[in-house]
Amino acid sequence: MKILAFESSCDETSVSIVENGQIRSNIISSQYFHKKYGGVVPELASRAHLEAICELTEIAFEQAMLSPQDIDAIAVTTEPGLIGSLIVGSNFAKGLSVKYDLPIVPINHIEGHIYSGLISNSGCDFPFVNLLVSGGHTALFLVHSFNDYEVIGLTRDDAAGEAFDKIAKLLGLSYPGGPEIDKLAQAGNSKAFDFPRSMMNSGDYDFSFSGLKTSVKNFVYKNYPNGVPKEALSDVAASVQRAIVDVLVAKTIKAAEEHKVRNIVISGGVSANSWLREKMKMKAAQKGIATFAPEMGYCMDNAAMIGFIAEKKLLEKGRDCFYKLDFRVSANALRSRKKNE
Ligand code: KG4
Ligand code: ZN
Repeated sequence: MKILAFESSCDETSVSIVENGQIRSNIISSQYFHKKYGGVVPELASRAHLEAICELTEIAFEQAMLSPQDIDAIAVTTEPGLIGSLIVGSNFAKGLSVKYDLPIVPINHIEGHIYSGLISNSGCDFPFVNLLVSGGHTALFLVHSFNDYEVIGLTRDDAAGEAFDKIAKLLGLSYPGGPEIDKLAQAGNSKAFDFPRSMMNSGDYDFSFSGLKTSVKNFVYKNYPNGVPKEALSDVAASVQRAIVDVLVAKTIKAAEEHKVRNIVISGGVSANSWLREKMKMKAAQKGIATFAPEMGYCMDNAAMIGFIAEKKLLEKGRDCFYKLDFRVSANALRSRKKNE
């Protein structure tokens, strides 16, 4: 089965072709122009999706060496996300569905991330604990199978990626701040400064990162009122990164142990973080738990993960269930899903 997939929920336009679980192409265009505003401007994001989506689709076909006539179904992200951005992807997909008489599978972006760690990681079995860490979400899921998962932990305030981005801004770094902090931290001492690890012993699987942000803000104003000098940046970045990763790793492993699960999957934009990938693998291995992380191209927002999970739904329910075009996009947040829902 060949699936043409679209992702446009935030500031990445992506088109992918997935065939039998293999990624034939995964084209991603990031809207870097939001940098100068310090965050994503929704109106500009939807316009940029509109400008990019046609050409990216052509490139995705070229790279996969296929044409629209070869496609069996379309998949598109319909929630959660920026409404205007979601509308661009879903209407484009609906247009192609009508033109080529193809079924269309509406996909929840969060589900895409949850299962993205299974792309090219065939060694990972169900059940697994998924740590989803992105700019918009930080959550822990207990994943029983495709289409069957429970939310077991959530951030009470900022997402981990949001914490990276906001703290990077305080340090005078550009947006998105996560990759900047990751890069700087490579040369820094992660024990140089002691920042708080919130909710480390809260007895549940929830997270909180707003206290860390405030603590870094106070630290910078007190010690470096004129801005953090270059020579201190790496140490601050490494210490901040360590504080965030310590909590993510500890809570994920606790969730896996308490649910007697032997596999951990990390996913979302922050799963690209080198310290998180290394520490999760190392600490989980000490408990006999395996860690799986998506390849870099499947960490950030991408259409391959949308096509990958759509294929599972098509195989389970059959193509005939997906000829309805009256689905809507929604900004809704994440939730659990039970089998057969
Ligand atoms: O999944 P994603 O592309 O978009 C959302 O759905 O939010 O995640 C983007 C987030 C941003 O906050 C960005 O700073 C963070 O992922 N990020 C990183 C790294 N690469 C991206 N955070 C830490 N270290 C990285 N290497
Ligand atoms: Zn995402």
